[in-house]
Amino acid sequence: MQRLIVIFILMFLNTSRAQSLFLNTNGFSVPNCDHIAGEQCYSNIVCDVNAKYRTIDGLCNNLNVPWWGAANTSHLRHVYPFYGDGIYSFRKQIDGSPLPGARLINLKLFLNKQFPSWNEHNTLFMEWGQFVAHDTTDLPPDPSITGGCCLVRNKYPIQCQYVINVPLNDPVYSKFGQTCINFVRAITMANMNNCSSIPASFPVMSTHYMDGSQIYGSNKQLASELRTFQDGRLRSEFNSNHQEFCPQRSRTSSQCESSSDSQFCFLAGDRRVNQNLGIAVFQTMFLKFHNVIAHSLQTINPQWNDEKLYQETRRFIIATIQHINYAYYLPILLGKDFTAKRGFNKPAVYDENLDPSTAQEHSTGAFRVLHKEIPEFFNLISKNMHNVQHAVITEWLDKPDLLPYNDNYDNMIRGLMESSTRQEQPSYNPLISNNLFLKTKPKFSGNDLLAIDIQRGRDTGMPPYNTMRSICGIPAASSFDDLLDLIPYDDVQKLKELYFSVNDIDFMVGALLEIPAKGAKVGPTSRSILAESFYRYKNGDRFFYDVLGQPGSFTSEQLKVIKSITFGHVICATSSIKHVPYDIFLSLSQRYMQNYVDCGTLTLNLDPWKEKSVEAYY
Ligand code: HEM
Ligand SMILES: *[C@@H]1O[C@H](CO)[C@@H](O)[C@H](O)[C@H]1NC(C)=O
Ligand SMILES: *[C@@H]1O[C@H](CO)[C@@H](O)[C@H](O)[C@H]1NC(C)=O
Repeated sequence: MQRLIVIFILMFLNTSRAQSLFLNTNGFSVPNCDHIAGEQCYSNIVCDVNAKYRTIDGLCNNLNVPWWGAANTSHLRHVYPFYGDGIYSFRKQIDGSPLPGARLINLKLFLNKQFPSWNEHNTLFMEWGQFVAHDTTDLPPDPSITGGCCLVRNKYPIQCQYVINVPLNDPVYSKFGQTCINFVRAITMANMNNCSSIPASFPVMSTHYMDGSQIYGSNKQLASELRTFQDGRLRSEFNSNHQEFCPQRSRTSSQCESSSDSQFCFLAGDRRVNQNLGIAVFQTMFLKFHNVIAHSLQTINPQWNDEKLYQETRRFIIATIQHINYAYYLPILLGKDFTAKRGFNKPAVYDENLDPSTAQEHSTGAFRVLHKEIPEFFNLISKNMHNVQHAVITEWLDKPDLLPYNDNYDNMIRGLMESSTRQEQPSYNPLISNNLFLKTKPKFSGNDLLAIDIQRGRDTGMPPYNTMRSICGIPAASSFDDLLDLIPYDDVQKLKELYFSVNDIDFMVGALLEIPAKGAKVGPTSRSILAESFYRYKNGDRFFYDVLGQPGSFTSEQLKVIKSITFGHVICATSSIKHVPYDIFLSLSQRYMQNYVDCGTLTLNLDPWKEKSVEAYY
């Protein structure tokens, strides 16, 4: 009886919810159990309806459902989760057999496919994607597991029940005697918040909104730790060359996240700031941009106190991020025609019925497909355009030690702008497929990002590839051969060898194999999921930068300034770089040498932020 009532409520909510535009046909957002549990867990929220600034944790953005999109609330799901037991265990194939091993899939289908060729777009474009991913998604691993799961490899603790098996004839790991890849199950809503949730669902630890939470933090305590409480500034540290960086995290050993030995370890609003050199550069760049803008606003409005300066600057930085994302990044990611046709270039129209929450299918699926663009190394390029260092990506994970020396910060940015990123292709590069978080002592142990992404999908109940096709309005395949519309012949043959039926294929596997849609970086299924998410991040955000008529809306003069901002402005304001490419995300191979903009011309007039004195009205 109780079950029936729950199902009835779910159906009722389905129909009352704003229909999603891009997951057309039968695509609607299914509110999962936690969106109901949320009501129990967040019952006494009092919102200030006149607040001009967003809260740090994302509460009270939606005034009807104040917890929508807030930190530590669960993902939204488009599709009911797929679990073997309906609740939490990995799904099985249609015939009841276990799914093929995640590492085996990478070996058979992807790892040996590497096409070296230039990407039209640069590593700055790749890194922007990760920066946005860290703003809007953070699936926390279970902190109760410290030594990794390969030591136990067992049913208990339950977070360790699905380590990834390495095939005996593994061409890489077998040489070092590695037989297991560490995998820790993600923390569930039930474990984290004591919000019962059946079937299992998973929190986003950051705010779901695109709101600079990776810079400012998603909870009040961290947000305070990141502030100086003077002049609206964020805390930072300077190296001996007077270059500004994120502050150092306090720690008791030389360990920085997964690396056991690092000199530097930054603190930022997102816990993954040190994960690779590219993201560390971005976090530094936007921290510096905050402090630059805070200083400018203070010059114009010397009467503003710390809080006012901090909040106005934060609002400005968030608007900058949203603008760059929607005006410059998405048209490349999803295709210019596609984004134009879907109205992404028009101002946001706030819709209070639109749930802004990050979709499980987005964060554990479609957005991860862009891992295929990660290059094997970052180039550091000097002022006179010499390539002074290749920083191998996997040698600097959780170890940002290279950055604070000499001109390395500037050289990294130059390298990001001038270097082509990895060409889109159905595989990840060999280094992140084998040597992720590599350790050689006491024993060799590497990790495989693609195998993890596949396994994470199973962990979080991600619907199979074929299900997502039909949700996205692409006809579901009724046999393997029906996949030939989007997936090359040879790959379909290998899928037949690996999976029992076409309905068993993991989302990551099918999505990675799909030939990119015209003008886009990803196939049609991923594009549909990504577009739907970015539609809700925009129109479901009451504080989105060009929403009008809200207490937090910019004036039209201010909006004009924001809309003139390019990524070039940010780079010029936060580095010693003197000129930036006009098409900021195009790689060098695609533009003429003279197609640069002088940083001297990329200035911002912040006069519209000058507060008119009260007397001026008389
Ligand atoms: C630059 C190098 C990058 C590295 C080393 C890296 C590594 C990782 C790792 C280790 C995870 C966690 C996997 C897990 O345990 O489930 C992850 C998650 C993720 N990555 Fe990346 N990544 C990179 C770039 C990117 C890019 C370019 C994008 C998108 C454009 C991206 C999107 C994501 C997303 C959406 C997640 C899931 C986040 C969550 O829900 O918590 N990453 N990445
Ligand atoms: C968890 O929730 C249950 C049921 O609502 C309640 O009885 C219990 O005290 C809660 N536990 C904690 C640690 O908050
Ligand atoms: C979310 O949960 C984590 C882990 O329990 C906690 O550290 C963090 O402060 C929480 N964030 C908010 C906004 O409550």
